[in-house]
Amino acid sequence: MSNRLPVDRVLDESGNADWRPSPGGLVAALEPVMRSQDGVWIGWAGVADEDVEPFEAGGINIHPVPLSEQELQEYYEGFSNDTLWPLYHDVIAQPSYHREWWESYVRVNRRFAQAAADVAAKGAVVWVHDYQLQLVPAMLRELRPDLVIGFFNHIPFPPYGIYSQLPWRRQIIDGLLGADVIGFQRVADAGNFSRAVRRLKGYETRGPIIEVPIDTDDPEAGSHRHVTTDRRGGLARTVLARQFPISIDADQYQELARRPDIQARAKEIREELGNPEKIMLGVDRLDYTKGIGHRLKAFGELLEEGRVKAEDVTLVQVASPSRERVETYRQLRDEIELTVGRINGDYSTLGHTAVAYLHHGYPREEMVALYLAADVMLVTALRDGMNLVAKEYVATRVDEDGVLVLSEFAGASDELRQALLINPHDIEGLKDTVLQALAMPKRDRTRRMRALRKKVLTNDVARWSASFLDALTRRAHGDHPLQ
Ligand code: G6P
Repeated sequence: MSNRLPVDRVLDESGNADWRPSPGGLVAALEPVMRSQDGVWIGWAGVADEDVEPFEAGGINIHPVPLSEQELQEYYEGFSNDTLWPLYHDVIAQPSYHREWWESYVRVNRRFAQAAADVAAKGAVVWVHDYQLQLVPAMLRELRPDLVIGFFNHIPFPPYGIYSQLPWRRQIIDGLLGADVIGFQRVADAGNFSRAVRRLKGYETRGPIIEVPIDTDDPEAGSHRHVTTDRRGGLARTVLARQFPISIDADQYQELARRPDIQARAKEIREELGNPEKIMLGVDRLDYTKGIGHRLKAFGELLEEGRVKAEDVTLVQVASPSRERVETYRQLRDEIELTVGRINGDYSTLGHTAVAYLHHGYPREEMVALYLAADVMLVTALRDGMNLVAKEYVATRVDEDGVLVLSEFAGASDELRQALLINPHDIEGLKDTVLQALAMPKRDRTRRMRALRKKVLTNDVARWSASFLDALTRRAHGDHPLQ
């Protein structure tokens, strides 16, 4: 279950309903998992005020949950993307707190929980995903105590000093603790969550295990699977909360990268750009967490200082449209487009564009061709749960070439240590690293890329989902709570 389904319902030019692949890392990771499982994907179909019947898309059974226009504004654009999203990403943008948004979030989470309660078989496994649905685990446990419930948070979980701003901070913790297993991207996220549980609820934690006291007057008290005695001698349910770093279907990217037509397209892209000596690439949803402005600032200064020439180096920036009705996202678009316009006005020539800016989403084949065409991949996120684009670039480079510049504020930097790691706030440092990436000798590029590829090819998405589901089912079978 996730807010976003793998496909969105859209209207084509003649007004007919059509489906198109959804943006974002969550869908990119879950799609291959769901293709290999015989399950149902519960989520929102991407349009307001429409009741869409269950259907099948590319071998996945889809069960849409409807949202009204008002819920779209309050639950999705409001509480999910204007409260939780900035709060969980280190308050890079100021979160807004509105009671009506929170009330809508509660109502919509209840609807999702009810949808799962209605379709799940007895004892089924329900895996709930991401910040839009944090109340679902506890709501669902109450409706269906027989279910095995997992939750995975795709975005960071903030440090207590930031999290504690949230007026509904206790309710969210209670919601999440309804799960048997709670997964995070990084060790630090799981640590932040455990600290919030201790500070706000006073529950005890032992390593990754959280002890949630059981109310013995509750008629369902006997149905809990992992029960232990806590330090006060009372009964407690145990919940496992730890990191499960997400990944991609690396083989699929490798296969695409080996296709002759896609390799030919990569060459064509270089030609279309006027065959510059080096191509740098950024690929992001147009989101303020991604550090696109920092990247442009560094590139603009390198051009200004004459350390890079537009005839030699082109920066291709794919910025796919995202959450366009939320004000902070509109402002960001204006800022980015102003900066791109200034850089191009100052440094492009008729034959060479300094920044090729593309405000579009592209099919996977075209993305792979772009990755293959790029000498340097720039991932400069200010905060990012994982950043799957970094992993896609690595999986695509079957030629063991290309340089990944990666922000230490992206979860991917925990694993991808052989990338050139940067602090995007340090513009001088970023500029030096960009120059280092552009000038790196072939031998060093291969050595680093080989090591990166080993990680990404081994820790792929199949391994991620297997390890989460394994932890979940083991707990369902009452194995030792520390497993
Ligand atoms: C991130 C979030 C996902 C979300 C995606 C796209 O990857 O973790 O939950 O689906 O962005 O954003 P959107 O708001 O369009 O679903």
